[in-house]
Amino acid sequence: MLSMDLEEGTVAGCTVLGRDLVVWRDAGGQAHVWDDRCPHRGMRFSLGIVRAGMLACLYHGWRFGPDGRCAHIPAHPELSPPPTLRADPLTAAERDGLVWVALGDAPAHGPATGVSAPCVPVRSLAVDAPAQEVARAIGLPAGSRAGGLDRDIDGLVLAAVLPVDRARSMLHLLVIRPAGVGTDRDRRRRVAVWGQDLRDRLEGAWAAA
Ligand code: FES
Repeated sequence: MLSMDLEEGTVAGCTVLGRDLVVWRDAGGQAHVWDDRCPHRGMRFSLGIVRAGMLACLYHGWRFGPDGRCAHIPAHPELSPPPTLRADPLTAAERDGLVWVALGDAPAHGPATGVSAPCVPVRSLAVDAPAQEVARAIGLPAGSRAGGLDRDIDGLVLAAVLPVDRARSMLHLLVIRPAGVGTDRDRRRRVAVWGQDLRDRLEGAWAAA
């Protein structure tokens, strides 16, 4: 997801390769990604809130620290929860204006994008088409899920395609800003419109296939 969509002290849910995840940012600005399931009774963590620097589950209010350990149980405030009572944090990193998570053998820092300049976020689009189709349509090399684009659109754009499941994707768009080059609102708007048109074309083609 775009880093800008995750403010300090907020929680969001997303799905990657069919796996439901919670993404939350602590008061220090660090982003965390865990499986979206509380180890107590299985409530979705993404419905919870950030309290005292911890992720608090909506159901019974148990709080889990950034290391995943349960640190507070409201019904038993005097209890020191055992270390086995914990969520399992996944390896996450932020780069190029995006939050990346490592699933399986994927690198923790996300795929190499070849982008060396700062990126300004534009928008994220849900696309009802497989990630490989989206990646192919925007001109990413075969097997690649993220990279700089320099075609059809207004200047340099970083695109990242996330496979939600076998039939759906998220497309994240950012404007690459080389030193000394501005990113005015019109440019971001043109890139956003380009993304919407691309989504409409892809969904139409995929639905007709
Ligand atoms: S289900 Fe999360 S605290 Fe009970």
